[in-house]
Amino acid sequence: MMTEAGRERVRVLFVCLGNICRSPLAEGLFRSAVAVHGLSEYFEIDSAGTAAWHIGKGPDHRMRELASSKGILIDSIKARQFQALDLERFDHIFAMDKDNQSDMLSMDPADNYGHRVRLYREFDSEPGNYQVPDPYYGGSDGFKEVFVILERTAHILLHHLAREHDLPIKHCTKIFD
Ligand code: 4NP
Repeated sequence: MMTEAGRERVRVLFVCLGNICRSPLAEGLFRSAVAVHGLSEYFEIDSAGTAAWHIGKGPDHRMRELASSKGILIDSIKARQFQALDLERFDHIFAMDKDNQSDMLSMDPADNYGHRVRLYREFDSEPGNYQVPDPYYGGSDGFKEVFVILERTAHILLHHLAREHDLPIKHCTKIFD
């Protein structure tokens, strides 16, 4: 899809296992960061899960409640399963963990699109083990930890993509150079 200025939108996809905890929040936070910087018309943003278990369901209530308490609305997101076509459709695909990344890469044996599939935390200023921990079977602290990681990194990621695609980002500060 084109923007009003006639340029292709940058297509960004966030991927986890179930598409009900981490990747919906990553989508919501990135949308929010994009809106704050006046760049909404330049992006197409989506999320998906490598597993089929939760197709059609909304995000986990624990993540919805945490997100809404921080002003991020993810209620309207419906889980969908990642498919091989997504490798062609999206310019940038960010995996929450290494299993998600390898599951996606296994759908591209000729390695035509592998360069598009990166770990989200490659962009984190405090990347730890480069994976966003799966909070599903744990307590509320795990959800909070995921929120902190994803929020911190969303802004860095946006500045990176804005620079790569030469987008007219507003309020750009030196912190991200
Ligand atoms: P997500 O979390 O990958 O961040 O959406 C999970 C959601 C569901 C399950 C595992 C992880 N599950 O086993 O159903």
